[in-house]
Amino acid sequence: MTRLSQKQAGAYYTPNRVVSNLVRWAVRDESDRLLDPSCGDGRFIASHPNSVGVEQDTEAVAVAKERAPGGTVHEAEFFAWAARTHERFECAAGNPPFIRYQTFKGDVRRRALELCASLGAKFSGLTASWAPFLVATASLLKPGGRMAFVVPASIGHAPYAAPLLDYLVEHFDDVRITAIRRKLFPELSEDCWLLHADGFGSSTTELCFSVLDHFKPSAAPCETTLVPVHEWRGSWSRRLRPYLLPAKVREAYRAAASDAGSLRFGDIASIGIGYVSGANDFFHFRPSEAETWSIPSRLLHPTVRNSRVLPDGDLTVQTVDGWRRCDEPMMLLRIPKDADLPRNVLRYLDTDRGRQVRGGYKCRMRTPWYSVPDVQVPDFFLTYMSGRAPSLVRNSAAATCTNAVHSVRVRARKSARRIIEGWDTPFVRLSCELEGHPLGGGMLKLEPREATKIVFPAPALASELSAAETKEAVSTMRKWRHYAVQ
Ligand SMILES: C[S@@+](CC[C@H](N)C(=O)[O-])C[C@H]1O[C@@H](n2cnc3c(N)ncnc32)[C@H](O)[C@@H]1O
Repeated sequence: MTRLSQKQAGAYYTPNRVVSNLVRWAVRDESDRLLDPSCGDGRFIASHPNSVGVEQDTEAVAVAKERAPGGTVHEAEFFAWAARTHERFECAAGNPPFIRYQTFKGDVRRRALELCASLGAKFSGLTASWAPFLVATASLLKPGGRMAFVVPASIGHAPYAAPLLDYLVEHFDDVRITAIRRKLFPELSEDCWLLHADGFGSSTTELCFSVLDHFKPSAAPCETTLVPVHEWRGSWSRRLRPYLLPAKVREAYRAAASDAGSLRFGDIASIGIGYVSGANDFFHFRPSEAETWSIPSRLLHPTVRNSRVLPDGDLTVQTVDGWRRCDEPMMLLRIPKDADLPRNVLRYLDTDRGRQVRGGYKCRMRTPWYSVPDVQVPDFFLTYMSGRAPSLVRNSAAATCTNAVHSVRVRARKSARRIIEGWDTPFVRLSCELEGHPLGGGMLKLEPREATKIVFPAPALASELSAAETKEAVSTMRKWRHYAVQ
């Protein structure tokens, strides 16, 4: 078996105090048979003599065999093994590999998705590996069985985590997620939470959600919020992150969001990504370069190339003039599909770099290759990877933008005022935190589909929660995404 990089294989081993805690919970009797579906160096199976580990990495298998001489270690790809084994287990514990969809592909992903679909859990091709791993593992439990796993904190917001949670509530009578704020793996950008599921073969209408500041080996009982499954599905679009907040804040947010006078961002504007040129260094000109090549000004359009160049509040003609004076690469070569090409432009397109660029994937896929599609002049720019908070910047300079920022086009003029007045209020800030998701390194990411859900509350309702309470909730969410509060 080939040796994959640590990242490709999702091979990050669990700290011992977490291992012993999960195994102690999962194993209730000496005779219980324990499965670790991705056992790595065998630290979970070494904690209980009657164990089975599966691992695809040859070197890790050798270490696991040495470490857990009483156990059985199968050198195998887990989904292939799971599809053919007839063995069933009282319990399972471990830490499934976290391999993002870009790397989780080929035969392994096909097998994983097919196996899960046959079990009733439908994952899309965008799933990371760990979620199907847990569904397949659960299906190998005996009736009444249980499992305890380290899981990425994206279980609290990722769309691909929803089929897993749906599967769990339909197949266990107790499903518990523990959010842990301080990192279990300080070297990783991803936070890790814990999952405990008990009573396989039954079902539940509630998820138990607990919040810990840091992992406690003693497993002292911590406060649990009961999350009705219908509420998680309906009010929170299958997200658990809102339950990091006090019930009062959640309820006020929910009430405001469903009030007839409130609007979602998507009701009043369309939000999308800017253009993808395929080669910004080639399609973006500095004024001096445009002059050298004698590019006609009708084929040049001022553009926002990244969020760093955006000022606060309003992008004015004066700001764009400042970029021009500083000779920044601030103009997009914007050639309509059917334009007659001036000789100088043809010369530019035919340079060595031009020939190289036209062979690139994006340019190859469009006709003509030099005509950048989806160039819009939005009403606002919206940053989608933000530290403190996403910025919304009015486009008074009729500029366009790359996909490094979102483009926002309002449907009716009068809505622009509501957006501008609402944006910097604590409630909308909170809404950005709840509808967006943490990206690691303290950043908040806002995909277009998430931005469309941002709530602009009916003015009367915003007061249901005091500004201080709302700000406190915003700072709680920032704390959970590790944004250093200044
Ligand atoms: C996060 S590590 C966990 C190891 C161990 N359970 C622990 O927590 O210390 C995940 C392990 O899964 C293994 N792995 C990744 N994909 C696999 C697959 N499809 N089948 C079997 N093992 C796999 C990796 O080689 C890695 O050792």
